[in-house]
Amino acid sequence: MELRFGLIGCGGIGALRAQAFAQLPSHRLVAVSDAIGSRAATMGATYRCQVEAEWRALVRRRDVDAVIVSTPPSLHAEMTIEALENGKHVLCEKPLARTLEECTRMNRAAERGGRVLATGFNYRFYPSMLKARELLDVGTIGELTHVRSYAGYTAKDHNHEWLHDAEVMGGGALRDNGIHLLDLTRYFMGEVAEVKGYASNTVWKFRGCEDNGFGLLRSPTGVIGTVQASWTEWRGYQFLVELYGTRGCIRAWCFPTLLQLIHSNQVGGPAKKKTYFFPKVFFFEHLRSYRWVVVQSFVEEMAAFGVAIGGGATHLATGYDGLETIRIAEAICRDGR
Ligand SMILES: NC(=O)c1ccc[n+]([C@@H]2O[C@H](COP(=O)([O-])OP(=O)(O)OC[C@H]3O[C@@H](n4cnc5c(N)ncnc54)[C@H](O)[C@@H]3O)[C@@H](O)[C@H]2O)c1
Repeated sequence: MELRFGLIGCGGIGALRAQAFAQLPSHRLVAVSDAIGSRAATMGATYRCQVEAEWRALVRRRDVDAVIVSTPPSLHAEMTIEALENGKHVLCEKPLARTLEECTRMNRAAERGGRVLATGFNYRFYPSMLKARELLDVGTIGELTHVRSYAGYTAKDHNHEWLHDAEVMGGGALRDNGIHLLDLTRYFMGEVAEVKGYASNTVWKFRGCEDNGFGLLRSPTGVIGTVQASWTEWRGYQFLVELYGTRGCIRAWCFPTLLQLIHSNQVGGPAKKKTYFFPKVFFFEHLRSYRWVVVQSFVEEMAAFGVAIGGGATHLATGYDGLETIRIAEAICRDGR
């Protein structure tokens, strides 16, 4: 069955999401909207779809089944709830919203209307993370004991002023790239029962925005997760998730996409090491840019969104997953600001 989409927000990420449609034969982009009319017009012309001057008109269209919300986070709750109340399924960009209260209202609207609400945690669909999931699930490293994750870049590289405006983002590094880490850590370790942490704002001093957030998480079964999100990684972009088990560990990187597996047949036995290089990703990342793998992750994620709408099981992050990451981020900041 064909799924007809509306897209709100034709900026950087909206443009990459629009590119993904070319690889999704059962998904069709029907209409787009942006506060900057010229952006929406360009996208409308490129993808031969309708342009709505007002996003509210887009979410009311009868020929739209699902809406992608790709605007700054302060607009996510209002746009998502209105789309859900108009009977649309919604894939909302990360962070799901600024606060737990906003996330709760969004999830309630989805439940009330019986619609799918997904959170744009596309890192779940990076080849290294998909491989990590597969290796973990078949027991390659034994029982998972802890997850360690780190994401960092410098706030000097922020491409939007609003990225360090707490009114728009709800917080700092933990709600920016750190929100992907919180999701992946929880995705691998399971539900988080306890949260401790610290957040520091000693370098950039953006009001209400931590430039480093450190979380210590524990699952109900005792799996531990440590997370650090940083805006003071002074050069380049680091993104790494490490899974430790009773018989080995998995290190999964993005940018570049790489995975290292160290494992043994028994606890404390001789350890073998294997590196996964993902040559196709390596080739296109270098030939084009890191955006190539971003678009591929959107293709996988939006395909999963279609499956979820049809009632199938997927690795897609739900609205509840989006809410839980904000709950954890809020708890870290409350515990240790
Ligand atoms: N999944 C990821 O890895 C990832 C990466 C970067 C950003 N994001 C998220 O994607 C979202 C968009 O980020 P971006 O970098 O594309 O930002 P952007 O500023 O480039 O794009 C946002 C667009 O929303 C439009 N907009 C603002 N107010 C609007 C309104 N009232 N009605 C309609 N359009 C409106 C803006 O004009 C702009 O074109 C954010 O939530 C951000 O956190 C996700």
